[in-house]
Amino acid sequence: MNSSKSIEPLFKPFKLGNLKLKNRTVMAPMTRCFSPNGIPRADVADYYRRRVENEVGLIITEGVLIEHPAAGAEHDVPHFYGEEALNEWARIVQEVHEAGGKIAPQIWHTGMARQKEKFPNSDANSIGPSGIDFNGEQVSEPLSGEEIHDLVKRYAQAAADAKKIGFDAVEIHGAHGYLIDQFFADSFNKRKDEYGGDLVQRTRFAVEIIKAVREAVGPDFPIIFRFSQWKLNDYNFKLAKNPEELKSFLTPLVEAGVDIFHASTRRFWEPEFEGSDLNLAGWAKKLTGKPAISVGSVGLNAQLTRDLQQTTKENNPTAYLDELMHKLDSGEFDLIAIGRALISDPDWVTKIREGKTKELSTFTKEDLKTLV
Ligand SMILES: Cc1cc2nc3c(=O)[nH]c(=O)nc-3n(C[C@H](O)[C@H](O)[C@H](O)COP(=O)(O)O)c2cc1C
Repeated sequence: MNSSKSIEPLFKPFKLGNLKLKNRTVMAPMTRCFSPNGIPRADVADYYRRRVENEVGLIITEGVLIEHPAAGAEHDVPHFYGEEALNEWARIVQEVHEAGGKIAPQIWHTGMARQKEKFPNSDANSIGPSGIDFNGEQVSEPLSGEEIHDLVKRYAQAAADAKKIGFDAVEIHGAHGYLIDQFFADSFNKRKDEYGGDLVQRTRFAVEIIKAVREAVGPDFPIIFRFSQWKLNDYNFKLAKNPEELKSFLTPLVEAGVDIFHASTRRFWEPEFEGSDLNLAGWAKKLTGKPAISVGSVGLNAQLTRDLQQTTKENNPTAYLDELMHKLDSGEFDLIAIGRALISDPDWVTKIREGKTKELSTFTKEDLKTLV
């Protein structure tokens, strides 16, 4: 990757309505647990600003908690409610804008991924569509209709606050087996009411959230929806087994108001279904006509494994970059999110643009301890 022509696709501007990005790079949402008592301080602003100063087009923040006692599954994850946390987020937005970047919060509820006794508000029960945990056991009551309506409002409130304090878009975390995704997956969702049933019926909770968010933010504020096939407890899980199923899953989400799909995969170069090279983001774009963000091991050939460290020695930070440029150039997807490479190299985008690939670092698990 040293001829400037070959990296051109990554550096083309992107525009969707009022959202104008200087290039196609997105920082993937990555939980940091560096916000004591849920309040992000100046170090969080520094962390994001460093990436923006190094040309990242759009920051998607670490997952931030909507206002619900059982939303978080770890300590020191930032809140997205309460005056103190929101004032700090407003400052972070301002710093990102001053550095010339754009930023969207990823709004999150962990649902049954939270082990009640270990985490904040241990007296509050973990919640999920059917109260089924990651071991497949029913450990709490299924959510009532009233509780579901209340949760929908809380997502909408978070989105309204995002707009109010100056964010450029909002990302709804519908991936990886957390609350929204638990409604999608029949292993978690055994409901017999209107929130359960076939794949399309299981989109209802997400649909209500997206509609409520749209109503809260108005027509021009971009809604990004992150989804995945894989779950925290099952990397091989397939929500949609073929393009037809994927289409039936995504269509209600589009109709509800999604502007951009963020298809979370662990390796962006892997085809999603047999018979085509398209990856999951490529299929999402083809089936819905909406712009798509892809992700997965950009600048790495390490897998995202449970211990986040498949290999360090064999790792090659420039692996698959040609493939990435080809996919961007062909319009298979529009934007590419970069996770771990941006942890180990805050200046990853600058290094790529300047052809300094020899200076790229190798991501290791040690990088996760400081996350600066
Ligand atoms: C430390 C860490 C924290 C993460 N936290 C989140 C998160 O809060 N929300 C989310 O949707 N994905 C999260 N992910 C997944 C990343 O957004 C991304 O999809 C994944 O790391 C693959 O991209 P990469 O191979 O470029 O790292 C996390 C990944 C890592 C490594």
